[in-house]
Amino acid sequence: MLTRIQDLATKLAPRLIEIRRHIHSHPELSGQEYQTSAFVSGVLSSSGLHVQEGVGKTGVIGELQGTGKDERLLAIRTDMDALPIQERTELDFASRAQGMMHACGHDVHTTVGLGTAMVLSQMAEELPGRVRFLFQPAEEIAQGASWMVDDGVMDKVSAILGLHVFPSIPAGSIGVRYGALTAAADDLEIIIIGESGHGARPHEAVDAIWIAAQVITTLQQAISRTQNPLRPVVLSIGKINGGRAPNVIADKVQLLGTVRSLHPETRANLPNWIEKIVANVCHSYGAKYQVNYRQGVPSVQNDYFLTQLLQSAAEEAWGSDRVQVLPEPSLGAEDFSVYLEHAPGSMFRLGVGFKDRVLNYPLHHPLFDVDESAIITGVVTLAYTVYKYWHQG
Ligand code: NI
Repeated sequence: MLTRIQDLATKLAPRLIEIRRHIHSHPELSGQEYQTSAFVSGVLSSSGLHVQEGVGKTGVIGELQGTGKDERLLAIRTDMDALPIQERTELDFASRAQGMMHACGHDVHTTVGLGTAMVLSQMAEELPGRVRFLFQPAEEIAQGASWMVDDGVMDKVSAILGLHVFPSIPAGSIGVRYGALTAAADDLEIIIIGESGHGARPHEAVDAIWIAAQVITTLQQAISRTQNPLRPVVLSIGKINGGRAPNVIADKVQLLGTVRSLHPETRANLPNWIEKIVANVCHSYGAKYQVNYRQGVPSVQNDYFLTQLLQSAAEEAWGSDRVQVLPEPSLGAEDFSVYLEHAPGSMFRLGVGFKDRVLNYPLHHPLFDVDESAIITGVVTLAYTVYKYWHQG
């Protein structure tokens, strides 16, 4: 079966590269993937899948019915949105849309999803159950997965697989990860309210800027002294607003930041932990405060069985030297985790690095580029994992 999948994928390679280049040159921002989803649904329909458009706003699902009576439904998720970045690659098929670029490889993800659907549609008699392909919008703003789930795409799904390109792994190889793959990403707003006064008479005022500085310093120090160092927490204040004039003591400062963590328990305690520190600092110096903590996407926690399935499928297909078991998670965020609240799943990293380049530009870089041979690696890995899902144990 593996040879058959590899043959089908190899035959499709020129078409898949054409598809990827088409999507790459026509990027669309999160929530506006109109042309992309129309294109995707066209390809899915012509491969004989049952297609539904307008799922999760601008998302698409394609369903492939196998010939058996197995009740299990396996989902494959890929994302379709681009970033507000001006491409600088000078490739023939570089972005034709001003200020937009597929700099996170979602063009490759979409192509791999389509390629997998095309391969599996030619061997439906080997599939005892159903496969549902999710083409998700708006991953970059961490909302698309929730839109898709709200429209019922996870109904009856027994397991879900996903992938993300990774420039530091060479094309032809993949990375799997057991347990946490990405972090939970929450939003933080802290407002410190002091009392205005003359810059020359600080004792008659409550200086919100100085107290804000204390709050930031105390939070950063408290992470190192009061959080378990084996359970990482990263708190970054990325924006400060406050003050009126150089000689006026500020009465209000707003701090905006992101909070990353890997362990669900640690995450659950963070809002209280932050509030206590802010409260203590503010009380010490007579300021009032407000803490608004908004939970964003949870951490992606890969399922053990499905990760093992991906690993063994990839090792059979490519040899164990081309399958890396990743020792570390990333503190980046990925809304694939939203699906994992409904079914177990696993997301792997698809190597797209050029072996002969010293520098492979990182994701979200205006010169980001991928070795397109990775598309076939992705398609075969996914298609064979799907096959094994029903034919192993
Ligand atoms: Ni991405």
